[in-house]
Amino acid sequence: MSSVDFWGKKFHVVTYGCQMNVHESEKIRGLLYNLGMIESNDIEDADVVVFNTCCIREGAEDRAYNNIMALKKVKQADKSKIIVVCGCMPQQKNGKYNLKTKLPFVDIIIGTHNINMLDKYLLKFDETHKRIIDIMETPVASMDNVKSVRDDKTNAYVNIIYGCDKFCTYCIVPYVRGREKSRPVKEIYDEVKDLVQNQGYKFITLLGQNVNSYGKDLEEKMTFSTLLNQLCTIEGDFKIKFMTSHPMDFSDDLINVMKTQPKVAKALHLPVQSGSSKVLARMNRHYDIKHYMRIIKKVKHAIPNISLSTDIIVGFPGETERDFNQTMKLIKRVKYDQIFAFMYSKRTGTPAAEFLDQIDERTKSIRVNKLLRQQKLIQKDQVKKYFNRTYNCLIKQINGVAVGITDGGKEIYIPTYRYNNQNYFADIKVEDVRNHKLSGVIVR
Ligand code: SAH
Ligand code: SF4
Ligand code: F3S
Repeated sequence: MSSVDFWGKKFHVVTYGCQMNVHESEKIRGLLYNLGMIESNDIEDADVVVFNTCCIREGAEDRAYNNIMALKKVKQADKSKIIVVCGCMPQQKNGKYNLKTKLPFVDIIIGTHNINMLDKYLLKFDETHKRIIDIMETPVASMDNVKSVRDDKTNAYVNIIYGCDKFCTYCIVPYVRGREKSRPVKEIYDEVKDLVQNQGYKFITLLGQNVNSYGKDLEEKMTFSTLLNQLCTIEGDFKIKFMTSHPMDFSDDLINVMKTQPKVAKALHLPVQSGSSKVLARMNRHYDIKHYMRIIKKVKHAIPNISLSTDIIVGFPGETERDFNQTMKLIKRVKYDQIFAFMYSKRTGTPAAEFLDQIDERTKSIRVNKLLRQQKLIQKDQVKKYFNRTYNCLIKQINGVAVGITDGGKEIYIPTYRYNNQNYFADIKVEDVRNHKLSGVIVR
């Protein structure tokens, strides 16, 4: 077999799911470019189409499945097209769709643990023309040395820990991603240094299902805050973000690093999932609302300009009107800058799927809409808090206008700014808040 067969051929990658998958697709692109292939925006025109899938909720599965099915006719008309399905959906046991039988026109089906061998599977298929279905129980080798091809030129994703050991009762991730495995510090350090110093990245987002678990499995014990401190010693004008943090082991050390290191972004995504401690216990989240609020209070006190966001599940089995109202109350208390709210979706193989007190779809939908309406009001009101405050922002030109982007992603217009310089950090003081738009001046 030879990679020459793929030289100059076109590929197209379709990605579903979380940042982890987005980043994995950047590595898939690296593997395919390595085979001498070129990228095409046109799915129908591509010689190789890769679907990197997600199964976190039923909706995510349906979306991927329908889009793969839509390619059936194209494949029938052009048999030489190679279709690959990979990622979390094939890795799932007894999922909604039996991909092997339901997608007979798909040539290669692999899971999450062997994505790094996608190029080898393609070469093998090209040689044998035999359908490949290969799902592994544990990782075969790491993707760490695969070069990522990133679209975004400002923010770069960097993996620090794979897998999840938390087993929240609703969640499929531990089953499809395996056990927690930290990347060695040196590897992370070198990658970040290269991204900042050679490739000009301004934001580095460290990725893990639970970044606070970082280092627990390493030979030389490390904590996430120590890792952050070390990365901050890299010279350059850049900032570090991270996701996701679990409230269970969110340490005071971490709050201190966020407060004192200018290179750590003042933004925190801290999923709460529910405002009811009773529901949290059944979710196996290992914290109650008292604990969560204590963290929020400390973070707000230490970093007044912090931008907060969260994930919430409504309609978890057994969630009463009272439980739901506690979630409503919680978002009013915390005043997040953004929330991601989901209706609970039963995942086969997880404990909560077997709970007998499931909530009907209509109630879930009413609750999620109510929550989102409330959050919209909070966000409208939140805009006022920016007035007269100073934010360290990345300066960008958007459609010829200078804009500062806060760590939380909020745009501040700078009407008086006359230079074409961009891509550097500066302090902006907000002087006007109108129609939910912010404007200000550079003060430093
Ligand atoms: N590791 C991260 C999040 C992973 S999944 C964490 O622990 O926070 C992203 C979000 O999807 C979760 O925070 C949760 O809100 C949501 N989610 C996960 N499983 C779900 C399910 N079965 N139904 C609905 N939402 C779910
Ligand atoms: Fe899922 Fe919980 Fe792990 Fe997050 S911490 S990935 S919600 S099991
Ligand atoms: Fe989805 Fe897998 Fe991420 S299930 S949310 S793509 S880890």
